[in-house]
Amino acid sequence: MNEVIEQLLNHRTYRKLDPTYRLPQEALQQILDSARQAPTWMNAQLYSIIVLEKKATREKIFEWVPTNHQIVDGSVFLIFVADLERAAKVVKAAGDLQQFNVGKSPDPLIWATIDASLAAENALVAAESLELGGVVTGSITSHAEELSALLGLPEYTYPLFGLALGKPAAKALKKPRLPEKAVIHYEKWTDYPAALLKEYDQTLLANKDPRDTVPWTEKIDHIYTKAVDPEITDTLRKQKLLP
Ligand SMILES: Cc1cc2nc3c(=O)[nH]c(=O)nc-3n(C[C@H](O)[C@H](O)[C@H](O)COP(=O)(O)O)c2cc1C
Repeated sequence: MNEVIEQLLNHRTYRKLDPTYRLPQEALQQILDSARQAPTWMNAQLYSIIVLEKKATREKIFEWVPTNHQIVDGSVFLIFVADLERAAKVVKAAGDLQQFNVGKSPDPLIWATIDASLAAENALVAAESLELGGVVTGSITSHAEELSALLGLPEYTYPLFGLALGKPAAKALKKPRLPEKAVIHYEKWTDYPAALLKEYDQTLLANKDPRDTVPWTEKIDHIYTKAVDPEITDTLRKQKLLP
């Protein structure tokens, strides 16, 4: 097995990060360069990265999601933003703003989300190769509107998630994944027994991660049956990214 694959198979989220560790500037630059070299839809590069190193802004965000210590303990907190403002700039400069189609369908937002996600994974993989660790932090979208104001985000942009990076301060367990048959399909999607998912409940419980206190299927059932929080949709509409 080569080193890259070994590193990928060894991935785990490190939530306990050393608050005293400072990331060398060169390492941060390598991480950001790696992020920007990720594949991107039509080479449109539909995202921006807000690099938060200073404590004040991070502390404000941490106030909104106080269980996510990685936001302040990491050396840096990167916010990945779906950014269609750049497209608006181009279209405006061409005198075509009347026909600007962003916000008329979910497509641009989907492509921007994919672009940002690929860039973020590149950043995380680069960081892990430097013996750093991190946490993708989606919880920040619970305060998407305040966060957008805090970061000065213009129309046609949306803060998708954060990525905290730093020096791991404690070991973390590798989280087993779903049974392969429930995820990988050859040639066409093939149904599988729901019992496979129950099997995964047991796998995770046996892993004894203190974060996995309820069975996985119970967690998923809860997420996809609770009342929908209108915050994300409202903010996306205000940012002119959804009809
Ligand atoms: C879109 C996204 C949002 C996430 N949001 C959070 C978060 O807000 N807080 C957190 O502690 N972990 C968050 N995570 C990390 C996941 O919980 C973690 O990747 C998952 O449980 C698998 O564990 P592993 O990365 O250790 O393999 C997020 C991951 C993704 C991809």
